[in-house]
Order: sequence, then C-alpha cells, then structure tokens
Amino acid sequence: MQNVEIKKGLDGVIVDETSISKVMPDINSLVYRGYKVQDLAENCSFVKVAYLLWNNELPSTSELKEFNNKEKNYRSLSSSVTKSISSLNKNAHYMDTLRTAISIIGSNDERTWDSSPEVNLDKAISLLAKIPTIIAYDYRRKKGLDIIEPDKNLDFVENFFNMCFNKIPEKEVLKAFEVSLVLYAEHSFNASTFTTRVISSTLSDLYSAVVGGVGALKGPLHGGANEQVMHMLKEIGSAEKAKTWMLNAIKAKKKVMGFGHRVYRKGDSRVPTMTKYAKKMADITNQKNWMDMSDILAKTMLEEKNIHPNLDFPAGPAYFMMGFEIEMFTPIFVMSRITGWAAHIMEQNSSNRIIRPLSHYAGSEARELPQMH
Ligand code: COA
Repeated sequence: MQNVEIKKGLDGVIVDETSISKVMPDINSLVYRGYKVQDLAENCSFVKVAYLLWNNELPSTSELKEFNNKEKNYRSLSSSVTKSISSLNKNAHYMDTLRTAISIIGSNDERTWDSSPEVNLDKAISLLAKIPTIIAYDYRRKKGLDIIEPDKNLDFVENFFNMCFNKIPEKEVLKAFEVSLVLYAEHSFNASTFTTRVISSTLSDLYSAVVGGVGALKGPLHGGANEQVMHMLKEIGSAEKAKTWMLNAIKAKKKVMGFGHRVYRKGDSRVPTMTKYAKKMADITNQKNWMDMSDILAKTMLEEKNIHPNLDFPAGPAYFMMGFEIEMFTPIFVMSRITGWAAHIMEQNSSNRIIRPLSHYAGSEARELPQMH
C-alpha cells in the first residue's frame, strides 16, 4: 500500500476561503462578517443578522424596513405546496416535510436555473419567509388543528409563534427564541453548509443545494443533536440521576448528544449565551429541573473526559420549555441556518470550482471476470 495520509472526515482540511464567518476555537469566539456573535445575539434581530450575512454589512433603517417587508410578503405558501405537505404521512419527521416542501417550492419557481446574485438573494429571502410557515403548517396539521395564516403585522419571531400556537408569548420568550436563531445562523464549513457548497459547485440551483443541506442537518451528529439532547434529558428524568447516568454513558463509551465539536475543543463560543437564555426560560416556565440536570451532566463530562457541551445542549431544553414538539427542534435550526447556507451558496457561485476530492482505493486488486455461462 502506498503511504497516503487520509484525513478522515476532512479533519483539519482547509478547502476554500470564506468571508462570511470565522470560528476561533483558541479564543472561544465566532464572528459573522467581523461582528461577534454574542453581540449580535444580544443587540440585533434575527432578520437583521440575515441581512448582514447576505449583504456583508448591517442594514440602514430604510434598508431593514425594505428587507422586512419583502420577507413578510413572501410568507404564504402556494396551494401546490400545502397540498403536497397534506399528502405526506402525519408520522413523517418535520425535516422530511421541510425537505419535500422546499423541493416543491423550487420546482415551481421559473427562475430555478437563474443563479445570478440578485435572483439567488430573492430566492433566499423567499425561503427565509416560507420555512417557518411550512413548519407551523406541518405542526398544526399533525395536531389536527386549523391552519393559521402568516400575519404581516407581526415580526418574524412573533409570526412563527402565532402560526404555531395562535398566541404570542411574553417578550422574554420571544427574545430567547430570537437569540437562538442568531446563534444558529452560521458556522463556516460545517457538514450541511459544506453539502450546500458541494451541490452549488456543480452549478446546480439554490433550492437543490438547500434540500441537500436539510438532509445533512437532519443527522444526529449535526443538527439532529438538539432533539436527541431533549430525549436524553427526558430519559434521565431528574437531577439526582444525572451524574450516575453520565458516568455510565462514559463507561459504555456512548456518544452523548450535545457534547463535543470538531472545531471547538475548549468550549463552544455560543453556549454561554444560549445557556443564559435557556435558564431564563426555566425561570419563566418554572422548569428548573432541565437546567439542573444539564449543569450536572456538563460538569461530569468535563471532569471525566474534558469534553464541553455544544450549542445543541442548551438549545434543546430551551425549545422544549417554549412549548415546541421535540421533532420541531431541528427544523427550527433550518429556519435559522437557511441564512448561512444561502450566504455560502452565493459565495460559492461567485468564485466557483467544482468540489471533487480523491479517495484512496482499498478494494480488490485488478482481477479477471470468472467464466460466465
Ligand atoms: N460523547 C462522548 N465522547 C465524545 C463525544 C460525545 N458527544 N464527542 C467526542 N467524544 C470523544 C470521542 O469518542 C473521541 O474519543 P477517543 O479519542 O477516545 O476516541 C474524542 O472525544 C474526540 O472526538 P472525535 O471523534 O474526534 O470527534 P469528531 O470531531 O469526529 O466529532 C462530533 C464531532 C460533534 C460529531 C462528536 O463530538 C459527536 O458525535 N457529538 C455528539 C453529537 C452532537 O452533539 N452533535 C452536534 C455538534 S454541534
């Protein structure tokens, strides 16, 4: 065998340049277009951050107004999309519904093959607006409830809660949710974003790339982890049982969901902010047990294995306390990450070369076919 070094999982491989975000694991920091994610989360609406990611600069007041209006005008789903969603099995995972619905939206758009920056930006705003409507539609049809149409008088986050629950929660809940969307928006060349770039690199269209991104994000090693964290917390059941549960999981060499990260080895830059807001949710809803349990799990994992929690760890229980079904957590991640994906798709298109790595062949040596009769 030749002496080849294989970077399994592309670990440590730099495949391209980007000017969208920078992950700095040594100083536990993350910036979007140069701005610290913690500052953006505390001070900016999610829609403002979407504008920043797609336009490289924060919007002026009038630019933001125009952007908000565009988003509001794109929220409704066409009947072909709602019919397609209604035809799906009610047990289908929300991510499967989302993947299918985005595919239908793409097949209905006459501009699908137009990947010019202006048209791609417009498609991205349309998906930003429609993804929450798809998730809420799916939630209400699964529950057998009347569908609630999007409301242009409400902002992005208020409208989502209203479409799901026919109610707008108190502002602390809206803020915690908005913070989670800002923190989830973008994270350089993670698996789903890289998937969207690979698809775009073939000069395929934005919708196809986003559909691929949804597929990649669904997996529990990536976005699906926020759902698994909540299943885990429910399985553990109480803070008293948390330490023993974690020690047993470590002993059994189990991958504990919501822990570890390919890039961050000293802690995830987004976790302190999200934990702060998850704790606020625990106070508001009087469900401190989830955070007590989380604290013990994190402490035990750190002491035993020196592995830190990632963003999915506090986001999972935060969404649960906001009243979302566990299977809605990863779709909510999509609601946010569409911003990062679309920014990367546009960046890939602006400086493209097809992504085509090599593999080292480890199969049979060349051999003759046996006699065929
Ligand atoms: N639970 C237990 N051990 C973990 C772990 C976890 N969640 N994450 C990493 N480790 C261990 C690995 O087993 C490995 O130990 P070893 O050297 O004894 O084999 C070591 O830490 C290094 O991890 P590595 O396998 O190099 O991680 P990776 O970069 O290949 O994978 C993740 C990164 C995120 C996929 C991985 O940490 C994971 O599966 N986490 C759980 C899922 C999750 O929360 N995903 C969301 C990510 S934002």
